Amino acid sequence: MSSHTSDTVCPLPGRTTSLGNVVVDGPLPDRPDGRALLPARAYTGAAEFALEQDRLFSAGWVWAGYAHWLAEPGAVHPITIGGKPLLMVRGDDDRIRVFHNSCRHRGMALTEEPLVVHRRLQCAYHCWAYRLDGSLSTAPYYGRERGAKVEPEVAATLGLLPVACHVWAGMVFVDLSAAHTDPQVCARDFGERLAPLLTRWDHIDFGRLNLAGERRYDVAANWKLVVENFLDFYHLPFVHPQVGAVTAALDVDDVALHPDIMGGSYPRGAVGKADKTDRVLPWLGDVPAERLERQDIFCVFPNALLFLEADWFQVIGYHPLAPDRTVEHMAVFVDSAAAGAEFEPAREQLTEVLWRVNEQDLPILQRLQAGRHSPAADATNLVSHWDQVTALFQQRVAKRMGGY
Ligand SMILES: [Fe+2]
Repeated sequence: MSSHTSDTVCPLPGRTTSLGNVVVDGPLPDRPDGRALLPARAYTGAAEFALEQDRLFSAGWVWAGYAHWLAEPGAVHPITIGGKPLLMVRGDDDRIRVFHNSCRHRGMALTEEPLVVHRRLQCAYHCWAYRLDGSLSTAPYYGRERGAKVEPEVAATLGLLPVACHVWAGMVFVDLSAAHTDPQVCARDFGERLAPLLTRWDHIDFGRLNLAGERRYDVAANWKLVVENFLDFYHLPFVHPQVGAVTAALDVDDVALHPDIMGGSYPRGAVGKADKTDRVLPWLGDVPAERLERQDIFCVFPNALLFLEADWFQVIGYHPLAPDRTVEHMAVFVDSAAAGAEFEPAREQLTEVLWRVNEQDLPILQRLQAGRHSPAADATNLVSHWDQVTALFQQRVAKRMGGY
């Protein structure tokens, strides 16, 4: 599998392990330290934040939310991506669609709260109503006459504006810059974008995912610090001593599958498997023994943080709200065979450990953000032995922003 294109972010030659992982040396020079690739103002500035919303979150595939937020047909869930209000809607055909959250008459947001409607979503201003596929159903008194219907050819131009979306592994992704919103085109495009990861994880049956738990965290930090901390394996033994000794962090390999997919891989058991759950849960599908050896931690740029073990899948998707505020939606999934009452103690034990790890990071993130206001923050140092993946991420941000 060759994942490096002309767009490669790995200027130094990678090496290939026996497992076929692309293990990168990364962009940091082989010296003790190097300056961070992003200035401190990238983490604090309002203008920088606004530009990121346009260039990083309004172009290309972006994590939008979870499919389980739309539990039944008629479920409507508002979200904001790249500063744009959107609606996720589950149709009568059970399909999830995403639309711009703006009535086609006067542009009012149709809802700012999740709700469940019966077949129609109505604007509260002039009572225009839309079917769950986005098409205009009724616009009362449109012709200023009682009972006047909108001409079909006019109505056909007044549906909610669709957004390219695709559902994968319990998550909804959107692409605000896509030229096409046809589901088959979206599926192909998304599949091409995630191909290196889908291939690497082709032993996992993501159709069997079952939600074990979800928590929302309001984080007082810039979204990039959330990613950088997720990709930081160096802090594990210091902030999360329960996941294993320093030797566990030493075992993590840096992996770049694609300029937009970066993270690490570690041997099973290295990070305190026995501490996560006493009782092993069923695997996520028919996982062959040789694929149990390594576990993966990846950022799918910009805002899906994925952690896969053979028996559980953790997602942190987040929405940046302000330069210093990020809302994380963390979910843990297990196999559908682990959904029963007999596995409840194991599921609870697992999720409690994972919530605890994430909660240990919250004060760290807050103080990382506070430190970005220091004049010394432009003189921080990335260490070549530990921070290559962080540097890859920062390099990707800078490239997609057109410089920083
Ligand atoms: Fe952490």
